[in-house]
Order: sequence, then structure tokens, then C-alpha cells
Amino acid sequence: MEFTRAESFLHDGLLQSFELTKYILKTNGYPREPTPLKELREVTARHPGKLMSTAPHSGQLIGMLLKLINAKKTIEIGVYTGYSLLLTALSIPYDAMIIAIDPNKETYEIGLPIIQKAGVEHKINFIESQALPVLDILLQNLSTKYPGFIFYLHFCFFFFFYGFFKFNQLNSSSFVSFLQKDNEGSFDFAFVDADKENYLNYHERLLKLVKVGGLIIFDNTLWGGTVAQPEEAVSEDRKESRRSIIEFNNSVSIDQRIEIALAPSGDGLTICRRIR
Ligand SMILES: C[S@@+](CC[C@H](N)C(=O)[O-])C[C@H]1O[C@@H](n2cnc3c(N)ncnc32)[C@H](O)[C@@H]1O
Repeated sequence: MEFTRAESFLHDGLLQSFELTKYILKTNGYPREPTPLKELREVTARHPGKLMSTAPHSGQLIGMLLKLINAKKTIEIGVYTGYSLLLTALSIPYDAMIIAIDPNKETYEIGLPIIQKAGVEHKINFIESQALPVLDILLQNLSTKYPGFIFYLHFCFFFFFYGFFKFNQLNSSSFVSFLQKDNEGSFDFAFVDADKENYLNYHERLLKLVKVGGLIIFDNTLWGGTVAQPEEAVSEDRKESRRSIIEFNNSVSIDQRIEIALAPSGDGLTICRRIR
């Protein structure tokens, strides 16, 4: 089995051993990877941002957790070519759904044909936007505050939103139907893999959106191992996100609203379970 230099770089970060990384991938990650995910990983490997993709063995853990909690309503922040999105779509039931948010639709479209071929596109509501304003809209509970507004929104949502969010045409009206609901405490699961500087902001909003007993998983919480290194030893381009991740890690470690487990998988996965 061939391992690329890219994989070596990605996984060495935490395990500090290419041999151990190869062992995990060879014995678990790759043999148990569903065919569409393997195909998506291969397509992504040709893209310059390939290192951003979720590691197959982290994907296995996320997929298992999704099944254990029988997740049906989920949020994904940071889609890229869609590895974690597709793995979520494959792990949840036929009638389940994902709100997937990313300001870059072009990279989502790289993986889209594979998502379509896998027969799971109907579960995905892709929203081309920064995540924070979408979460804020989901939390506004517009139907209770402004019942007439929702009718208006259905009537002309395209004109209203164009330029603010751009929806996946297929599922745009189903997102509007979300605005009619009280979304607080209604989601089972959220995965955050974007925009490290806003992790604490996402945490606060997602804690309202996810139900008690639901999970929020944050990726990259060990930031290539730099969280445990002195700042002087860290390259300039990683410093700002490192600071945000350290602040996030410190904050969630004492947050009484959640139980947490920091799994040293991939680049570090912090699994938060809402308990109040
Ligand atoms: C690390 S990649 C996500 C990888 C993806 N989870 C996977 O498994 O392939 C980060 C993505 O976050 C997106 N992004 C950056 N800023 C964002 C924001 N403010 N809100 C949502 N997505 C954002 C980027 O466009 C990029 O596609």
C-alpha cells in the first residue's frame, strides 16, 4: 500500500511516527473505508488543499458516534471537498438531514458527483456562506417572532437572500422551512472544521442548537501538536489559530454544560456532549 508524502505530513503531526500512522491506516482506516469515501479521498488528493480533508481514521470515529446516537439532524461547518460531509451522509438514516455551510462552493462541487453517485445528496442542504450568520439565523426563531415574515420569505426568498447566502438550488426551500421552526435544542450533532478563530463563538451557538445528549465535535484541537509547544517554536502562519485553539481548549475543559473527550486522532478531535 502506497502512502504519499502528503499523508506523512498530515499524520506525523500528532503521532510523530509515520510508521504508526501507516499501521493505523493500513489495519483500520483504509480497509474499512466505504468506496465513495475512498473515491472522494482520491479525487481530493489531486487538489492543492488536500491536507484539509478529514483523516480516514477520524472519519471512522465520527461515523461510529453518529450511528451510536442515531443522529438525524446535523450541522457541518467547513465542507471543503466533502469528506466529512459524505461520511456523515453515509452514517445517518435515509430521512435524516445535514445543514452544510462553507463560503467556497467550488470545492464542494469537486466532491458533489461522488455524493450524488452514492445516493445521499437528498440529505444535504448546502449553504454557501460564512457559518456564523447562518447559525444566528437558525437561532432567531423567526416563525414565533414574525409569523407573516415566513410566508413572505417563501414567496421571495431568492431575491431576499441572494448575495447574503447562496443556496444549493435543490434544497434552498428546505432551508427556508428551517426558519419556520424553533431550532433551539433540535439538532443531534454538529461537526466544526473551519475558521479556528471562531471556535468559541460556534461553541456558544451550537450549544443552543444541539439538544441535551447531542454531540458537537471540533476538529484540529491539537493543531499539529503546537498547542503543547512554546510559542517561539511555532511558525508564524500557525500562531494565531494556535492561540484561538488554546483558548478554546481551556474554555471547554471547564464548561459545566458539556462532557468532553479529546481524542488524539487526526489533528485532535474534541467531542463535546451537551448535558444541560
Ligand atoms: C479544513 S477544511 C474542511 C474539511 C472537511 N471537513 C473535509 O473533511 O474535507 C475547512 C473549510 O472551511 C471553510 N471555511 C473557511 N471559513 C469558514 C467560515 N467562516 N464558515 C464556514 N466555513 C468556512 C473553507 O472554505 C474550507 O473549505
